[in-house]
Amino acid sequence: EKGDYKHFMLKEIYEQPAVLAATLEGRLSATRVLPQALGTAAMELLPQVRQVQIIACGTSYHAGMVARYWIERLAGIPCQVEVASEYRYREVVVTEQTLFVTLSQSGETADTLAALRFAKTAGYLASLAICNVPGSSLVRESDLSLMTQAGPEIGVASTKAFTTQLTALLLFTLALRRAGHQQPDQEDPLEAELVQALRGLPRIAEQTLKLDEAIQELSEDFAEKHHALFLGRGSHFPIALEGALKLKEISYIHAEAYPAGELKHGPLALVDKEMPVIAVAPKDDLVDKLKSNLQEVRARGGELYVFADPYTLLEPEEGMKVIHLPEVNEVLAPIIYTLPLQLLSYHVALIKGTDVDQPRNLAKSVTVE
Ligand code: M6R
Repeated sequence: EKGDYKHFMLKEIYEQPAVLAATLEGRLSATRVLPQALGTAAMELLPQVRQVQIIACGTSYHAGMVARYWIERLAGIPCQVEVASEYRYREVVVTEQTLFVTLSQSGETADTLAALRFAKTAGYLASLAICNVPGSSLVRESDLSLMTQAGPEIGVASTKAFTTQLTALLLFTLALRRAGHQQPDQEDPLEAELVQALRGLPRIAEQTLKLDEAIQELSEDFAEKHHALFLGRGSHFPIALEGALKLKEISYIHAEAYPAGELKHGPLALVDKEMPVIAVAPKDDLVDKLKSNLQEVRARGGELYVFADPYTLLEPEEGMKVIHLPEVNEVLAPIIYTLPLQLLSYHVALIKGTDVDQPRNLAKSVTVE
């Protein structure tokens, strides 16, 4: 039931602090991801993994794209990510010792399931499903599963399923990292730091949701627009993609996302005052580069909306609205920076009067091709 909320989507956005905590529950010690977090079979399997292939659709695919940055950076293992509907119809080369990972809220998405069925005949090391529905086809047919604890997601636009997928993917990444170590029991300061940060995640999510009113104000600028451009760099490029998908899905505004470094390779030609540009600017190595990309937009008269870490020193100015997010560990930032984009699309849809929970032409679970 929706309770006091006007829509399931809003309720599900607000459930995120609790479901992030539920997804971490029982899976962490003070300094590490517990070895049994992925099940005992995984303990034997993970040390053998030399490569990861992630397959998913839609929002779940965006979670996979973030995971690629994490897996290569933190576990030092090559990772490929592809949408299921492409992967399943092309000739793929399967490398040795590759773990096949599917991501799905429902566990019933036809293309993802077909990709798994193919993968089982194709010589992968094993299959892992990261999924929100226990007993779903994907979970039943995979060798290993890691459940997200988002609870039922009713809104067609995926919100809490995405952020819990990211959380589970970070646990998986840390487990892979540890499995790659020579001595599995040694202390790993980076893992300890990230575990600490994960414990604080629900609280930071809660603080971030308090920005709702400020975001609602911003949303008024969008309701009359026909297009929007989302920018991010590194692990926040997929977050920009997810922000654009949310806006398309529920407000029917055409939105695109680009890695900010690609602007001058084409999309900059679209920028004028009719094209709002939304950027996510966490504190990371790329922020200075992102800032100069934002200057490129300003110089063309583009209106900027920036979600930024206070440390970036990005402040509101003529043509640029800035909302500061709470401080968050750089690795976990994609999870937190998703939240304002969810709220923004929700409020724009509300002004436009669309059917937020049941957008036109879409189904919650895509069980046919
Ligand atoms: O259940 P799944 O995660 O496999 O669903 C995949 C996509 O259909 C889904 O994420 C879709 O893109 C959402 N409506 C996005 O909000």
